[in-house]
Amino acid sequence: MTEIPKTYRVKSFGCQMNVYDGERMAELLGAEGMRAAADGEDADLVVLNTCHIREKAAEKAYSDVGRLRREDGSKPMIALAGCVAQAEGAEARTRSSMIDLVVGPQAYHRLPEMVAEVAKGHRPVDTDMPAISKFGALPARRKVGPSAFLTVQEGCDKFCTYCVVPYTRGAEISRPFADVVAEARSLVDSGAREITVLGQNVNAYEGGLDRLIREIAKIDGLERIRYTTSHPTDMTDALIAAHAEVDKLMPYLHLPVQSGSDPILKAMNRSHSAESYLRTIEKVRAARPDIAISGDFIVGFPGETDEDFTATLSIVDSVRYASAYSFKFSARPGTPAAQMEGAVAQEVMDDRLQRLQARIAEHSLAFNRATIGSDTQILIERKGRLAGQMIGKSPWLQSVFVETGAEIGDMLDVTIAQALPNSLGGVIRSAKAA
Ligand code: 5AD
Ligand code: SF4
Repeated sequence: MTEIPKTYRVKSFGCQMNVYDGERMAELLGAEGMRAAADGEDADLVVLNTCHIREKAAEKAYSDVGRLRREDGSKPMIALAGCVAQAEGAEARTRSSMIDLVVGPQAYHRLPEMVAEVAKGHRPVDTDMPAISKFGALPARRKVGPSAFLTVQEGCDKFCTYCVVPYTRGAEISRPFADVVAEARSLVDSGAREITVLGQNVNAYEGGLDRLIREIAKIDGLERIRYTTSHPTDMTDALIAAHAEVDKLMPYLHLPVQSGSDPILKAMNRSHSAESYLRTIEKVRAARPDIAISGDFIVGFPGETDEDFTATLSIVDSVRYASAYSFKFSARPGTPAAQMEGAVAQEVMDDRLQRLQARIAEHSLAFNRATIGSDTQILIERKGRLAGQMIGKSPWLQSVFVETGAEIGDMLDVTIAQALPNSLGGVIRSAKAA
């Protein structure tokens, strides 16, 4: 028998969906009367909200668990949550005796109950994916920062051959329109000025992502709307039109392409070609000429030749990405690509990754440089490293450093003075910040 924990810490890894889930788990525990452990304070309960998307995810999670052992040999109550928990299930308890409970991404509304079971001496595991969504069982949103996440859709039915998401997050489900709009209102009431609408395939949202954006744009006090992540084949004309017509919708689109080579896209089961992707980008730019395009890439997919990789560099040049993430292919257990022939050698992957990242950085820098001298608004999100320095986000999701006495959550008028590949320097224009 152990005591019910009084303090908790939730550590989230990986994507923004996990950040959102981590916040919701914290709220659940808070609703049970637990409080968040302060920085540096030992928590009675640690929730590791893990990510399974790439290399050695499970090994990393177990070593993170191991590091929770305290100097005196004791340990906090440990909950393994997130996608590694989903993939490992009951196996996790066997692999690490330190893990007290295992809860998957579709079951975490049961976390408080499961903590109580641990206190009674059990080691519960719940990796069910119930048809009834967990969202109805979560408490109302409490105080949030100026920029909040809102999950509207989870899971994926696309089955790209490299990806574990359809297995760890399950089939695509969309939350009811009215519930999502109500949560958006409650986020704004709790202090959010920007909402990022989240889904593994957010533009496949059943109620219509364009309709949803138009509806939440009506909320007074909400100033910025973003969404991620989108699939190229679900970029409807209605959604593209929203970019032209909804002022609050920020000029930023994360649209992963993964590769610029059609044979590789086919082997990935991406259901789009390089050309159809480029046509979509063209339409989006026609609707919103200043839009920042971001993407994801995988290099070294099985069978990727030099020629395939050259096609990837070429699509980077055609799109002129404002930013992009790129990864070396990682064979995920249970996915079709893990069985494919034509493994690409590590050195080749390393070399391709480096060349791709260098090419992307050139375009990021060019995109950022083009903003020098322009006037824009930033939403202050956090303190900078230097005294008096704050960091805000531009409409194009660039981090902008400014010297100001303004506070987190302020919207400031700035002129962009300086550009680096990953950030901008700005000077304040508004009297408000003086
Ligand atoms: N190997 C490498 N990268 C991957 N991603 C997803 N699965 C894998 C994998 N098995 C990348 C994709 C995706 C991003 C979230 O992670 O680029 O868009
Ligand atoms: Fe994974 Fe493809 Fe679904 Fe994205 S669209 S979550 S990459 S299967």
